[in-house]
Amino acid sequence: MASGVTGPTRASIPDRTLRSDRWWLEPLLTFVVFSGFVVFATYRAFLGRDFYVEPYMSPFFSPCITADCTDKSALPIVFEWWKLSPALVILIFPLGFRMTCYYYRKAYYRAFWLSPPACAVAEPHSAYSGETRLPLILNNMHRYFWYGAMVVAAFLTFETILAFGPMEGEDPGIHMGLGTVLFVVNSVLIWLYTLSCHSCRHIVGGRLRTFSKHPVRYRMWTWVSRLNAKHSTYAWYSLFSVAAVDFYVYLLATDRISDLRFF
Ligand code: FES
Repeated sequence: MASGVTGPTRASIPDRTLRSDRWWLEPLLTFVVFSGFVVFATYRAFLGRDFYVEPYMSPFFSPCITADCTDKSALPIVFEWWKLSPALVILIFPLGFRMTCYYYRKAYYRAFWLSPPACAVAEPHSAYSGETRLPLILNNMHRYFWYGAMVVAAFLTFETILAFGPMEGEDPGIHMGLGTVLFVVNSVLIWLYTLSCHSCRHIVGGRLRTFSKHPVRYRMWTWVSRLNAKHSTYAWYSLFSVAAVDFYVYLLATDRISDLRFF
């Protein structure tokens, strides 16, 4: 039996949509930007070099776990036996977190699978199985990726503190350059994105019957709820910032530009 908009209980309208605005613009932009990010991140991850220039470690590679990071890593342990790019391990967590994000799911289901492409626009598929089978059922792991994303965000914060260190040839002490500013902005955006997550909101305030008996969790839930209202904005801004910081470090590491130093 036909389902979806062609189901017997739906009004029989021959047009795919009655919308006359540019409803296709948002899914198209999502498709272009998301595809661009995936291509860029994959290229950088497999490149596996030009991710460090003192004192900046690219967020795609932090915490760096390979032997050639001994002096650079925020992590005290390195794995000598791991010979591939460290990003191939590290990126599993932030990418898994983003791919399973409730907001991104909506965005890429629309942009890549047209399911549906926009509100009040019929999708081309005749059947809908939801997220009840592989691979989409794996999206239910989002809450677990959140814990991994918190750890990654903590490492990025540590790398941001290290970004106040000297470049090669500078005196020891606190320094600051354009790179430092980019690291700070990226760190803030990553935290805003991670803490505004729907799973975070549920973790801090879910399963409570009476808020008045849990004032601290209620307060935290209120803060997260405020952030949650802007989750989609933080999702895109943090995606841009993390790619921009990696690209900036790449340009520095390959001597294409030099860091603008303030002090
Ligand atoms: Fe988007 Fe959790 S819902 S990161």
